[in-house]
Amino acid sequence: MTANAVLRAAGLRKEYGRGAALVRAVDGVDLDVAAGEAVAIVGASGCGKSTLLHLLGGLERASGGELSMAGERFDTMSETRLARLRRNAIGFVFQGFHLVDELTAAENVELPALLAGVSPRAARRRAADLLERVGLADRSRHLPSALSGGQRQRVAVARALVNRPLVVLADEPTGNLDSTATTDVLRLFDGLRRNGHTLVIVTHDSRIAATSDRLITMRDGAFVDETRLGGGARRLGSLAGLGG
Ligand SMILES: Nc1ncnc2c1ncn2[C@@H]1O[C@H](COP(=O)(O)OP(=O)(O)OP(=O)(O)O)[C@@H](O)[C@H]1O
Ligand SMILES: [Mg+2]
Repeated sequence: MTANAVLRAAGLRKEYGRGAALVRAVDGVDLDVAAGEAVAIVGASGCGKSTLLHLLGGLERASGGELSMAGERFDTMSETRLARLRRNAIGFVFQGFHLVDELTAAENVELPALLAGVSPRAARRRAADLLERVGLADRSRHLPSALSGGQRQRVAVARALVNRPLVVLADEPTGNLDSTATTDVLRLFDGLRRNGHTLVIVTHDSRIAATSDRLITMRDGAFVDETRLGGGARRLGSLAGLGG
């Protein structure tokens, strides 16, 4: 138990199918994520990482267990309240970006803010600031189709941050990227961590894992190993070793 847990799961379960086809995708997970902590979750394909992230982000309902955000239970919330929590408190970065093709980079970032009731002017300002932070100020009027994979993912990260979420959840944020784009996105996440954002990142990339505060290994829907990683110097060292 951490006093300042932003996100907490207890006895979390998700089952699919039944009888002989029953899959225990998430099988009794306990997790406390502290404010400002960066947690990386690794494990073999099919071990339940995405399912866990979807439960933590309120995108899917659990079969059992409890979930809370900043001390407030959300596994029992109505759809309406859950939708509001997702919009205001959670930033989700999907592996496949999920940008709206017809909207520019800036409009994609503004959209969740507008849906949350932020004025168009303030939403525009936030989007411009965030695109600047992710190094895409000069691409704000581009459609996603005119951006590289790494640039699209950076827009998706900016969008995830626009409502100033309590926690950012990212599912394989470098999964579809070539190595240069991966390095960009890796640096971006390391920057978020150093700026005090709370992060839960599912990844196959050992370099992302190495820049987190805590590394959790999943197998068959459960946590089987947990490592606390050391200080910032080692992290910066590992980043410096990334090259171009
Ligand atoms: N909608 C669903 N219906 C039935 N089974 C599902 C469903 N979604 C996931 N599963 C099963 O649950 C298990 C966990 O899936 P999940 O997508 O969470 O794995 P993962 O760790 O994210 O894998 P990967 O690394 O390949 O993305 C898998 O065995 C998968 O087949
Ligand atoms: Mg997955």
